[in-house]
Amino acid sequence: MIKKLFLVLVVALLPGLALAAAPGVPLDNMEPDHTNKASLQRGAATFMNYCMGCHSLEYARYMHVAEGLDISDQLVEENLIFTGAKIGELMKIGMNKQQAANWFGNAPPDLTLESRLRGEDWIYSYLRGFYKDETRPLGVNNVVFDNVGMPHVLVDQQGLCAVKPKIGQKSSIDPLSGNERNAGVCPEWASEGSMSPSEFNTAMYDLTNFLSYMGDPVKVERERLGVFVLIFIAIFFVFAWLLNREYWKDVH
Ligand code: HEC
Repeated sequence: MIKKLFLVLVVALLPGLALAAAPGVPLDNMEPDHTNKASLQRGAATFMNYCMGCHSLEYARYMHVAEGLDISDQLVEENLIFTGAKIGELMKIGMNKQQAANWFGNAPPDLTLESRLRGEDWIYSYLRGFYKDETRPLGVNNVVFDNVGMPHVLVDQQGLCAVKPKIGQKSSIDPLSGNERNAGVCPEWASEGSMSPSEFNTAMYDLTNFLSYMGDPVKVERERLGVFVLIFIAIFFVFAWLLNREYWKDVH
């Protein structure tokens, strides 16, 4: 009996082990904040402008994003929908998966649940992890995702790092030059971007925050409700206890 129980316990713990063993690369930490609507709105704008050409969010509808992010339907229709879709539609894209796989080696996956699959740390690190690598077909590689098929779509904003960016390492300011431009993840640039490293970090924080929200849009509401449920249980406990005492009063 004990042996059987032990076996059940081991099997139940297996998925946890598999998850814990997953990442081999060090990652930068990213704490999502779904109550920061301004951050989510900026992230959504970046996503629609730079990512949705290739990645869909096809398990979500535009109108729910509009509602959740406090953006009016009209603003979303005029400024964030580039596919000609209606506000009530799913956030699909027109790219043909087969063709895309021919172009990039792999088809760009749907990203609705990406934050659930990889985690926020991974996405935040990945987006800042591109670097110049002439041996790759598109001239770039990624420290978090080796031999990635995705082009460095934000190269105009971030610039192109000449060496592997220092993702997941505490201090990365160049001690010799102390150069401002060298602060952040990249010690040496092949080309400069329009944003400073800290501006780019903020933009990628917002974008990751948005993808985190897409993977779990009801998180804030769920946690808010959870508090009330606990308060209810606490109050209910008092009455249950009083009733119990009443029932057993005369039994000795
Ligand atoms: C030109 C097309 C294109 C654009 C634009 C693009 N991506 Fe990608 N992306 C890809 C491809 C192709 C892959 C698959 C790479 C592979 O598997 O080698 C990918 C992979 C990814 C992955 C990893 C998926 C996984 O395997 O878990 C993430 C995250 C991602 N992209 C985020 C973004 C974000 C955020 C943007 C906008 C800043 C963006 N992408 C813009 C083509 C694109």
